Amino acid sequence: MNCLGIETSCDETAAAVVRDGRTVLSSVVRTQVELHRVFGGVVPEIACRAHAEAIGPVVEKAVADAGLKLADIDLVAVTSQPGLIGALLVGVSAAKSLAWALGKPIVGVDHIEAHLYANRLANAGFGYPNVGLVVSGGHTSLYHSRGPAEHERLGATRDDAAGEAFDKVAKILGLGYPGGPIIDRLARQGDAKAVEMPRLDDGGPDFSFSGVKTAVLYKWKGQNVGKGRRPRGAAPPRPKLEDLAAAFQEAVVDALVSKTVRAAEERGVRMVGMGGGVACNSRLREKLGDACHRRGLQLYYPPLDLCTDNAAMIAGLGSALFEMGRVSTLELDAVATR
Ligand code: KG4
Ligand code: ZN
Repeated sequence: MNCLGIETSCDETAAAVVRDGRTVLSSVVRTQVELHRVFGGVVPEIACRAHAEAIGPVVEKAVADAGLKLADIDLVAVTSQPGLIGALLVGVSAAKSLAWALGKPIVGVDHIEAHLYANRLANAGFGYPNVGLVVSGGHTSLYHSRGPAEHERLGATRDDAAGEAFDKVAKILGLGYPGGPIIDRLARQGDAKAVEMPRLDDGGPDFSFSGVKTAVLYKWKGQNVGKGRRPRGAAPPRPKLEDLAAAFQEAVVDALVSKTVRAAEERGVRMVGMGGGVACNSRLREKLGDACHRRGLQLYYPPLDLCTDNAAMIAGLGSALFEMGRVSTLELDAVATR
């Protein structure tokens, strides 16, 4: 069974073909990052327009790269939630048109559940039950999953998503967009212990990253640093850029790691998965890997191109849902929130 997946929930126009729910025949991702870079974040109206322009060629390329014709597609899967509503509508409309024209079934897929499913697509050993961490530009959530579509949310961010915090801190530090990969690289040359940061694990399952973002802002601007001890008129001390990046990253990573392993232990699961763009972070992979290893937990994460937004994960989960008897109708609607 050849499933065509379509993803347009944020700033990537993506299409992919997955065979029998396991083999990725093609995966095309056209990123809009250059369009949004000047604004330091995704501008919804610009995103919708760019999706509308790209969706046709991206779908055609995915089908051609798979060595197939549109008539060979047996199922259309599409991200229908959550995301930017105008952006989602482009993908959902394209998917419905294709399904109708081809006379093939359509299945709506949840973007977050697809990030979790990317672990299964990439690793045959990854199964259920597991604890999954989704860390991206729009989401930071922990789940206890019993199947591809059975997810109990254990915790989520109260403010910024982890990737959003990376992006905003990079903006504060004048590093460019998107900030995650830049901070990841820069932090390798820094000393995380050289700058004090708030600890972000309050013992509960929810996340909060706005405090550490503000801490970075103050440290960088030199406010509240060495207050009272500084001679009048003296310029406030500024930490080294690399050290500040490393300290910020360490604080975020530590919170993600401790909350994830605690959730796995509390739920008594042996498998941990992660997904979303921040799952590319080298320090997160290293520290979560160590923490899981020490506790006898098996950690899985997809390769980089299946962590960031892509349509292979949509086609993979769409196929699994279809096998379970889940199909949508042409009434399928885009939904902004989960
Ligand atoms: O999953 P994704 O491609 O899109 C969303 O669904 O949001 O994630 C994009 C986010 C951005 O915030 C980006 O800065 C972050 O993932 N990111 C990283 C890294 N690579 C991408 N964050 C930290 N370290 C990285 N290496
Ligand atoms: Zn995503």
